[in-house]
Amino acid sequence: MPGCRISVWDPEGPPSGADVALVWRPPAELFKHETGLTTLFNLGAGVDALLKMPEIPPHVRIVRLEDAGMAVQMAEYALYALLRVSRDFQAFDDAQSRQHWDTREGTRPADWPVGVLGLGQVGLRVAQTLADFGYPVAGWSRSPRDIPGVESFAGEAALPAFLARTRFLVNVLPLTPDTIGVLNRETLSRLLPGAHLVNVGRGEHLVEDDLVQMLEEGEIAGATLDVFHTEPLPRDHPFWHDARVHVTPHIAARTLRDESIAQIAGKVAQLLRGEEISGVVERSRGY
Ligand code: GLV
Repeated sequence: MPGCRISVWDPEGPPSGADVALVWRPPAELFKHETGLTTLFNLGAGVDALLKMPEIPPHVRIVRLEDAGMAVQMAEYALYALLRVSRDFQAFDDAQSRQHWDTREGTRPADWPVGVLGLGQVGLRVAQTLADFGYPVAGWSRSPRDIPGVESFAGEAALPAFLARTRFLVNVLPLTPDTIGVLNRETLSRLLPGAHLVNVGRGEHLVEDDLVQMLEEGEIAGATLDVFHTEPLPRDHPFWHDARVHVTPHIAARTLRDESIAQIAGKVAQLLRGEEISGVVERSRGY
């Protein structure tokens, strides 16, 4: 980026005088040192951690990554989790360990209605991908969306009906004061029997104790979880020890270096030309 001076922040050194910072979970100290910042590029899609920081002055523009190769990774993750349960792959692994030729009856995509909570760039890609594989897919969002092959449910009032037709629930909502704890006993108990939960949003979307109990009671059949209240997931957490729960370490969609650099460099160039950029967070909305 000729014309730009780029440096790595040094908390020990003098302020760099930067206008723009690229951050992921920055320390509060950054904002005391770098008082000239006007724009923060978050090196991830979710900006919940930044919005919890009172040290970031209100005039600073916060920009999230927009897809940047993350949406397709989320779609892969959700598809993997869905095929694993809907095609009984775990059972075939178990059968192989017993050298057993298990000719169990297959299920049909129609037996696995999918619900995607959140239809932003990521949710849209997830919903379209699973619909392409022939699964009945619905999406839930704040306002109605017109997506071919995906049934749209919108707003708080439509949530119970959305859940009641869903067996495989994928959460890709942003974490906001409205969505904290949205996956709880009351909502999860509305799902179809034999339900499976995929959480690739944030740990705080899920009331973890509710899920632990519902798995125990057989109210929920299984879960594939990438995000947790405490990360790394503590060693004694029940999720590690439950065969119905598949744990991954917040890797569902990694920030891709080249795609992110290209996106942010393009937006910095737009800002320098005085143009509007997309992906600017509306703080009052929380994403
Ligand atoms: C990762 O969690 C992200 O928000 O991109």
